[in-house]
Amino acid sequence: MPDRYDLPAGFRWGASTAAYQVEGAVDEDGRGRSVWDAFCERPGAVKNGDTGRTACDHYRRWPEDVALMRELGLDTYRFSLAWPRVQPTGRGPANPAGLDFYDRLVDGLLGAGITPLPTLFHWDLPQALEDTGGWLHRDTAHRFAEYAALAADRLGDRVPAWITLNEPFVHLVYGYALGLHAPGRTLMLDALPAAHHQLLGHGLAAAELHARGRDVLIAHNLTPVRPASADPADVAAADAYDTLHNRLFTDPLLLGRYPDLTAYGLGPDPDLGGAVRDGDLALVHAPGLDGLGVNYYNPTRIAAPTEPGLPFAEAPIDGVPRTHFGWPVVPEGLPELLRTLRDRYGAALPPITITENGCSTDATLDDTARTTYLTTHLDALAQATAEGIDVRGYCTWSLLDNFEWAEGYSQRFGLVHVDFATQRRTPKASFAWYRDLIAAHRAKA
Ligand code: NOJ
Repeated sequence: MPDRYDLPAGFRWGASTAAYQVEGAVDEDGRGRSVWDAFCERPGAVKNGDTGRTACDHYRRWPEDVALMRELGLDTYRFSLAWPRVQPTGRGPANPAGLDFYDRLVDGLLGAGITPLPTLFHWDLPQALEDTGGWLHRDTAHRFAEYAALAADRLGDRVPAWITLNEPFVHLVYGYALGLHAPGRTLMLDALPAAHHQLLGHGLAAAELHARGRDVLIAHNLTPVRPASADPADVAAADAYDTLHNRLFTDPLLLGRYPDLTAYGLGPDPDLGGAVRDGDLALVHAPGLDGLGVNYYNPTRIAAPTEPGLPFAEAPIDGVPRTHFGWPVVPEGLPELLRTLRDRYGAALPPITITENGCSTDATLDDTARTTYLTTHLDALAQATAEGIDVRGYCTWSLLDNFEWAEGYSQRFGLVHVDFATQRRTPKASFAWYRDLIAAHRAKA
């Protein structure tokens, strides 16, 4: 059986974060307000009333964080740009002071031998754009492309590849359908225009990035979907869920069409609430993807619904360990997912980068649960690469303990412990383990 040391030569090792989860400094240097600033002010929206106002204070402490990355020996650092730092109201000229921060960070990373891999949108939309409809409004897609161009004009000389969107499915469902994340809308299936406009924004931004000679990726939260039983009703429900979670975004990107949403009463050629206009799918598909980012955490088990409404119900996965968050730990779900992508998309599937994978633990520094999680997932990943699936790199989530959205600071995903009262960083056991793994893999390759 292959293991993590058998990952291909040239495989790139990384770690990920996102702006609102680590930066803090929300009022600094002309940054505008984001939907997450607003959402955190809603009573009860975030556990313990936590907010990202200070987070890990990475905006000021980034040199210390880059030093930690250098110690790890990272090839890649995946982070995100806060759109409201670059364009405080989401439109118009760039705020130079906001871009200066990313300029310094990029130079600091390059000086440490680390390739920056920025994400343009990791959920912190400028509130001013939300006030005009957010991703429900078509214009937001055009504003996104304008922002992408401003960012690439400033940083593109040193940043070879860009991720447009992070987990548009989660943003759609948690942010617009269920109201569990910002902007806190509860539109259920009426949220679907926000799927199309995110994709359109991706396509328009991708064209801007390609025009500047930069590579384009997108990061999806994908999950292997398992029917709860062989009963045809469970199998049909699993298929319906798979269509929504895994195909709503990847089919248009890789195949140029939306999947059949008949199970949702939306027909075989859905127009997503009237959002899709002639020519849009070409704008989404034609720029092409230079890489697919896969965020993998766990599989999903699906049964037939027991109540009217959606055509599926989530079923528990029993008999496996769970993370601090309660998420099932199923490493073999990762190659299972990658095989499905290969079989589904064939030659249309671009090279894959695992852009997130990791687990939360309690506040301990002796985080053997994390080391075990990462070891078993990397061994499972090596199984997939041994089968010929083209995976170019792996970014663990996360470098630092940080603001875990609606869970606030209660879920710690970092290789590095952060004391949020003092901002003191302390590497956990998994930090040394990851450092040694990277060095050993490099020595072997
Ligand atoms: C996915 C998201 O991209 C990231 O922001 C989040 O913290 C992790 N998963 C863990 O939930």
